[in-house]
Amino acid sequence: MSLTTELEKHLGRRQQHGNMRQLYKSNELIDFASNDYLGLSRSPLLTSAVLKELEQLPRISLNGFGSTGSRLLTGNSAYAEELEEEIARYHGFKAGLLFNCGYMANLGLLSALAGSLDLIIYDSCIHASMHDGIRLSRAQACAFRHHDVAHLEQHLEMPCKGKRFVCIQSIYSIDGSQAPLEAVCNLCMKYGAHLILDEAHAVGLFGPRGAGMAAEKNLIKHVFAQVVTFGKALGCCGAIVLGSESLRRYLINFARPFIYTTALPLHALAAVKCAYKLLPTLENERIRLRELSDLFQKSPHDFASHIQAVKIRGNAVARVQSQLLAQAGFDVRPLMHPTVPRGEECLRICLHAFNTMSEVKNLIDHCKGERLPLSVRSVGSVVAKEP
Ligand SMILES: Cc1ncc(COP(=O)(O)O)c(C=O)c1O
Repeated sequence: MSLTTELEKHLGRRQQHGNMRQLYKSNELIDFASNDYLGLSRSPLLTSAVLKELEQLPRISLNGFGSTGSRLLTGNSAYAEELEEEIARYHGFKAGLLFNCGYMANLGLLSALAGSLDLIIYDSCIHASMHDGIRLSRAQACAFRHHDVAHLEQHLEMPCKGKRFVCIQSIYSIDGSQAPLEAVCNLCMKYGAHLILDEAHAVGLFGPRGAGMAAEKNLIKHVFAQVVTFGKALGCCGAIVLGSESLRRYLINFARPFIYTTALPLHALAAVKCAYKLLPTLENERIRLRELSDLFQKSPHDFASHIQAVKIRGNAVARVQSQLLAQAGFDVRPLMHPTVPRGEECLRICLHAFNTMSEVKNLIDHCKGERLPLSVRSVGSVVAKEP
């Protein structure tokens, strides 16, 4: 069988199972799908700030738009190093190292940090980039049940010849849930484990000036390394690993996705710098997003997240429900197997500061009309708040 025939056979199987991945053009539907939680990627304020910043950067006109090489060769700049320092300070860390995206940050961090004698214990719902980094590290690895700290402790009690690492996200992208951060930090302290915290979906939204969940809970000192991505609430692209000065120098030497790649260009860094300048001013957006999230709150004690997962079993049903919502004008995407385990398929609703109360209420009404298993508070009072 030729390779092409074999590829087509695999694709055919995907089609049969209803989990064929495809590229879609952007659409005019109401955005309940993107990670642009604060609307920064479409913000005229950010655009004009970036253009102004670029005008002040002579290197752009001298070197064009490329960074011209790896940070270790010709791609470094005082601008990049200052930005790293600024961002590290913003989040309360000593140092930071930029990566081209969050995927590369997690891959580089985990594959470089842990070795074959080490043990990595991870929440079963961590992002694919952490999984791939763990695999590349060749460390022993085991999952604990989502948010189950007792199960985490069982794994921490296991004998280990090397170092122990615990990998979690502060907010989980697949269901919008929040990690039991204090409990995990306490266990890491008790067992001398090193906490790797991915704040991709929390930065910009939680904590003082949107500095993240660890900052909100005053737990920065318990975090060995924190991953922040710029492609979500910050509306840009790229990522940074935050930690100690030693961690930064170690990653410069051993993180292959940092070493063997062309650095982010100056205009991408300028966008990140400007987004960070705007972040403290977006308190109203954070409040608004919390109000929208509250519509989905199941009980007064429940955590209301800007990501809501509507559980729907089966790829085919999830896809059909997403199409039905699209026909009604809502862009809500399905999370299907193999991105999530079989039986855990869902529709993921991402809320944004720019979504209106009535858009969210209409979406909720539609979901109810389709009898989707949506847990929501009474929305009657909220409609009255519509500006
Ligand atoms: C939790 C988490 N970490 C890391 C990443 C990867 O970030 P990036 O999109 O910048 O590669 C994502 C992206 O979806 C994510 O959800």
